[in-house]
Amino acid sequence: MSRLCLAGIRLAALAVLGLIVFNAHADETGRGAASTAQQGLAVVTARCTLCHSDDLVRQQRLDRAAWTRVVDKMIKWGAPVSPEERELLLRYLAASYSPTADDPPPRP
Ligand code: HEC
Repeated sequence: MSRLCLAGIRLAALAVLGLIVFNAHADETGRGAASTAQQGLAVVTARCTLCHSDDLVRQQRLDRAAWTRVVDKMIKWGAPVSPEERELLLRYLAASYSPTADDPPPRP
């Protein structure tokens, strides 16, 4: 095998590696919507299952105003939810467990 040919193979390998890295990066940044749902679910799991199962949350179909009332009631009752988590929760719950959501809603 000639030196030139080997160099070509190395170049090709580098190009493939570059593509893999580039794609992995694009994949990470292209998942904004899913990650809101994943973060929302993580907050529900961490903060809302201390006193009851997440079924109680998942079986509801509420709009944002009604979710706001529920979440604020749970916070008053002792759910340890920060203001940032509250906002994330309300966005997630109002989107995934709205009156028009599938039944049962898709797991993110
Ligand atoms: C400090 C304990 C506690 C935590 C933490 C908690 N809940 Fe509750 N939750 C209750 C109690 C008590 C009830 C009423 C009794 C029952 O139905 O089991 C309830 C009931 C509910 C209901 C049924 C409807 C209603 O209004 O009563 C929903 C929906 C709900 N919780 C959502 C949540 C969400 C979302 C979170 C996370 C932000 C959460 N809960 C965290 C104690 C808690």
